[in-house]
Amino acid sequence: MPPLRVRVGDFQLGPKEKKAINEILDSGRLSEGARVREFERRWAAYVGTAHCTTASSGTAALILGLAALKHRHGWGNGRKVLTTPLTFIATSSAISVVGWEPVYVDVDPHTFVITPDSIAAHLSEASDPENYALILPVHLMGYPADMSAILEIGRRYGIAVAEDSAQAHGTRYDGHVTASMGLFGAFSFYIAHNIQAGEMGALTSNDAEIDRLARKLKAQGRECDCPICLRHEGRCPRLNANDSDEDYDPRFTHEMIGYNFKTMEFQAGLGLTQLDRAAWIISQRQKHVRLLNEYLAPYADILQLPPYSDDVSYLAYPLVIRRPDLISRKELRHRLEERGIETRPLFGCIPTQQPAYGHLKAQYEGRLPHAEYLGRHAFYLGCHQYLREEDLAYVAETFGEILAGLPKSVAAKERV
Ligand SMILES: Cc1ncc(COP(=O)(O)O)c(C=O)c1O
Repeated sequence: MPPLRVRVGDFQLGPKEKKAINEILDSGRLSEGARVREFERRWAAYVGTAHCTTASSGTAALILGLAALKHRHGWGNGRKVLTTPLTFIATSSAISVVGWEPVYVDVDPHTFVITPDSIAAHLSEASDPENYALILPVHLMGYPADMSAILEIGRRYGIAVAEDSAQAHGTRYDGHVTASMGLFGAFSFYIAHNIQAGEMGALTSNDAEIDRLARKLKAQGRECDCPICLRHEGRCPRLNANDSDEDYDPRFTHEMIGYNFKTMEFQAGLGLTQLDRAAWIISQRQKHVRLLNEYLAPYADILQLPPYSDDVSYLAYPLVIRRPDLISRKELRHRLEERGIETRPLFGCIPTQQPAYGHLKAQYEGRLPHAEYLGRHAFYLGCHQYLREEDLAYVAETFGEILAGLPKSVAAKERV
């Protein structure tokens, strides 16, 4: 195999990133501190929410949002969350680990997100709509779900709506940034995402109580709620500041059962360097999607190309094989990888194609036709900010070589 030439994602450690890391090392504080607080403040401002709490990963951020909702209402296990079958599995696993049940409706075949129609149809037929805790769309590959219509359905049924925006950093919908419209929004800053931090997540919200509960839950439900004792240099101002005769330390008194989902200064420091360049990152990715769409237009009879919008912050460049009778995803991916072009499958339809949810297979088989088709025939390539125009031309040339040989690919033959 030749070295990878067109990766799905890339991270370049320049002088600014190195400076940020060195400053953290010199500061002597590695666990959550000033950079984490600064990242939270700036990310909330960027998204347009009143609050932001970081977490150790996007999965952790989702769990915090769900667990905060559960605590707020004093709900038990077994409630349902209406969500998408086509996503990275973390959305479903977060629902499952808080003791709730993911319920799936089908997606739009072009933008991969759950549709208001499929949500409304499901709820109108549900015998127990009062048992649904949440509607949780995922803005997959950067494409926003139709939030106005979904929020309206949520209001009609009295069900809150949240947003998994792990793959959409800075996507705009109707003048809002994704993850600012629902009860909470979850982000992942995993290394392959647009704003990169290695491993980190964030929960954004306009709901002060959700944010307060999430902050507590991420730190073992402790009573202490000042911003990590920073202002007090480790001396807790509330130490023994209660009416009890007992020795009281709020840092080691826990009002709820929680997690350790705190992050580190390194991740926040790196995230801040990327946030400084968010506009450039997004516009480079958009430019690459436009160019690839132009280059691959001759193959649109075989491949469904991604719809382009200036409002979308693209995670990657998704393609769907329209003619699996001419070329399978397995073969196309293999031939691209063989030529140094990295690819990933579009995750799989969770209840029917992911072994972890095999217990749901019989229930959902054949009922999510778009998600099942995409789970078998969709995949993505990189469109990241470090690709050069010659890399994209190489992608076009490689697709030409592979697709031109196909029997009925008239357009492809003409191009080559
Ligand atoms: C849609 C979606 N949700 C949640 C996550 C989980 O994020 P993390 O990998 O940071 O835990 C991801 C990760 O890529 C994701 O794509």
